[in-house]
Amino acid sequence: EKGGYEHFMLKEIFEQPNSIADSMRGRLDAANGTLTLGGIYEYSQALINARRIIVLACGTSWHSGLVAEYLFEEYCRIPVEVEYASEFRYRNPVIHEGDIVIAISQSGETADTLAAIELAKSKGAIILGIVNVVGSSISRVTHEGAYLHTGPEIGVASTKAFTGQLSVLTMIALSVAHKKGTITQTRYKELLVELARIPAKIKEVLDNNAVVEEIAERFKDAKNFIYLGRGYNFPVALEGALKLKEISYIHAEGYPAAEMKHGPIALIDEEMPVVFIATRDSSYDKVVSNIQEVKARKGVVIAVVTKGDALIPALADYIIEVPPCEEALMPLISVIPLQLLSYHIAVMRGCNVDQPRNLAKSVTVE
Ligand code: F6R
Repeated sequence: EKGGYEHFMLKEIFEQPNSIADSMRGRLDAANGTLTLGGIYEYSQALINARRIIVLACGTSWHSGLVAEYLFEEYCRIPVEVEYASEFRYRNPVIHEGDIVIAISQSGETADTLAAIELAKSKGAIILGIVNVVGSSISRVTHEGAYLHTGPEIGVASTKAFTGQLSVLTMIALSVAHKKGTITQTRYKELLVELARIPAKIKEVLDNNAVVEEIAERFKDAKNFIYLGRGYNFPVALEGALKLKEISYIHAEGYPAAEMKHGPIALIDEEMPVVFIATRDSSYDKVVSNIQEVKARKGVVIAVVTKGDALIPALADYIIEVPPCEEALMPLISVIPLQLLSYHIAVMRGCNVDQPRNLAKSVTVE
């Protein structure tokens, strides 16, 4: 059932052009400029009127929640708080009647997320679920929601569910922005067209697999990694670091690139690979300066860059190219090489990538 791939994780990484297309099927009609999210119907007005949104999730799903924060704030002008479910539930959080909670969970069984949802629900919040597993516990306690439609994810490290979550959250945010009038018709249509192009762009990134594999060979014995990104690529840095530690057991940290100088910069030396997610976007110039700061301290830089960029390839030691893309949609693409990098490193280190030690696919304990 691994479809000819050596591991489920690799199969699931390579499935992403299709799984993303599946998540959009019947929902996104770029040619006519429409988005239809049947699962969020009764509460769509509440979402448009929301004074704030609380996102509840854990792990990788929490990372997709962070991307959603950027999307909802930029396009819908709704303030968003992204909460670790385990922290939220134990701190007597402020929840108002009618608050909107977006709960994100691949398995739909995560104990902390489920308990946090129940707490918010008991205080009158409206719970929207972004879940992969149909009929799961979380899908049953939410008021409404949208399934990912990405198919079962078997590898313990989440890959296609993450991009599926991003796809669904992006469609919800754009649909709200459109109905609310916080995005122009032209921008809305442009973004829908760009969204429809994501599967083909992911395919292009997957064609770079051999480049990523060579980089993995060079760094497979590293003891530590840092991942840095800004804006929409900041959550991608966190996700890249999480993937690496989960399956290769190499210590890795993700940071917003500008935070580096407030501490992690002390770690940088000739041994330390620093992965920059440095695509062409509104923080590009700032990221270039951050790369220069690392190089000045003899750090080794691996950079994920936009195809055609000439400046960063001249600074970085290793580059991985991704196709040009709208800033808000870039996480769907820029995370792919990081998934591949952790996969190859883990395989080269002889790790069990589909069943990493100490981890379970559903975390049903608190
Ligand atoms: C990361 C990973 C975990 C899960 C987390 C939440 O690869 O698998 O961090 O993302 O346990 O799980 P769900 O999304 O099922 O609630």
